Amino acid sequence: MTQHSVICPGSFDPPTDGHINIIERGLEIFDHITVAVAINRSKKTIFDPNERVNMLSELLKKHANVEIDSFEGLLVDYCKKKKINTILRGIRTVSDYEYELQMSLANRILYPGFETIFMMTEGRFSHISSSIIKEVISFGGSGKSMIHPFVEKKLREKLKTELTQKN
Ligand code: PNS
Repeated sequence: MTQHSVICPGSFDPPTDGHINIIERGLEIFDHITVAVAINRSKKTIFDPNERVNMLSELLKKHANVEIDSFEGLLVDYCKKKKINTILRGIRTVSDYEYELQMSLANRILYPGFETIFMMTEGRFSHISSSIIKEVISFGGSGKSMIHPFVEKKLREKLKTELTQKN
């Protein structure tokens, strides 16, 4: 039987319950998932790549067939290096679809034969995004049903440090 490995790339700044749900549902279909944190030095992130990798490792530690890694540069180059030609992405909304369609078409031009598999987000996660969560937590709201309590704690600490540094 052929083993099917996929890459699940993203910013994961921070990882949300929606991300974890897509990865865990992906494990029902694929044999192995590499969760790849994208390093984009021109994009301001609240967590550095190592912190994002560490959070994902903690959240997904029970899954032996999940590997957590990070990459810089083009996703297709990283996939070629890993010898994986399929990526898994979640879609929440119509605007996600437009963005994802563009990315998947660009990736296929860069790497013919490259496939993107889309999974629809479960309804209870369709409103969640890392940026909304950062805003909710920064204004003192609860991350319940959006992020793991462990991620919420890290985010609160991080936002507190940022605020102290600004003042
Ligand atoms: O979680 P995000 O921010 O929606 O993830 C987007 C990501 C990281 C998958 C995308 O920006 C990406 O693949 N970046 C790597 C650089 C690259 O290959 N860009 C061209 C894609 S068309």
